[in-house]
Amino acid sequence: MKNLNGKVALVTGASRGIGAEIAIQLAPAGAKVIVNYSGSKQKADDVVNQIQSSGGEAIAVQADVSKTEDVKALFDKSIKHFGKIDVLVNNAGIMINKLLKDTTDEDFDKQFNVNVKGTFNTMREAAARLANKGSIINISSTTTRLMLPTYGAYVGTKGAIEQMTRVFAKEIGARGINVNAVLPGPTNTELFAHGKSDQFIERLASMNAFNRIAEPIDIAQVVCFLASDDAKWISGQTIGANGAMA
Ligand SMILES: NC(=O)c1ccc[n+]([C@@H]2O[C@H](COP(=O)([O-])OP(=O)(O)OC[C@H]3O[C@@H](n4cnc5c(N)ncnc54)[C@H](OP(=O)(O)O)[C@@H]3O)[C@@H](O)[C@H]2O)c1
Repeated sequence: MKNLNGKVALVTGASRGIGAEIAIQLAPAGAKVIVNYSGSKQKADDVVNQIQSSGGEAIAVQADVSKTEDVKALFDKSIKHFGKIDVLVNNAGIMINKLLKDTTDEDFDKQFNVNVKGTFNTMREAAARLANKGSIINISSTTTRLMLPTYGAYVGTKGAIEQMTRVFAKEIGARGINVNAVLPGPTNTELFAHGKSDQFIERLASMNAFNRIAEPIDIAQVVCFLASDDAKWISGQTIGANGAMA
């Protein structure tokens, strides 16, 4: 269904995992896609090639979302190439699992810089530069509802994203822009698999109604819906994409 015809979508952290799948799914729905990455150029180029070989339009743009100047340049390059941005998906994120007592200043700062400052940077830029009637989708996490040990600093970043989502939805709504957060449950990516035993993964899988870990496409399809005009009346919401996990 081409319900994103004529729209331009910027997806942060789209070189791998959930972000890559979001970029890949937005294209056949009709969107032109900016595939942002910070370090994985080859993987971002592969995503662009996959979209182009299926008849879609995409470019890869490097930017570290935690850096204000990089984000300004990301918007400059995207608007120069496609003329506008209608959809912003704040997906770039990192996770460092440690008990709170073992979390270093560096662990804390890294996660807050990428996850919170990154989302803040792109939304601040979007305040003036996202097209009227656009959509913003911020990727939070179902872990904000689970209180799992070792997720303390990470859920702090995601809780901040959810609160900014609610406030920014009210601030930017006058331009017809809706802002929502999607909260994936455990999803089969590098970020998720890192350092987890098979036993822990099985335990997490057993905590949802379908007894499996999500695949990136399960999340991408929810994001595609929220990016469409059909979802316009949904704004300021935190939406679990987690198979009834929480
Ligand atoms: N997987 C899960 O179970 C799960 C569950 C809930 C929420 N989430 C959230 O979903 C989002 C995507 O997670 P994922 O599992 O797909 O992670 P992933 O496989 O590790 O991919 C992370 C992506 O973010 C990019 N990135 C990291 N730091 C960046 C920065 N400073 N600037 C720009 N891009 C940056 C990476 O690009 P480079 O490789 O180029 O650095 C990569 O494309 C994250 O926000 C995560 O917190 C994931």
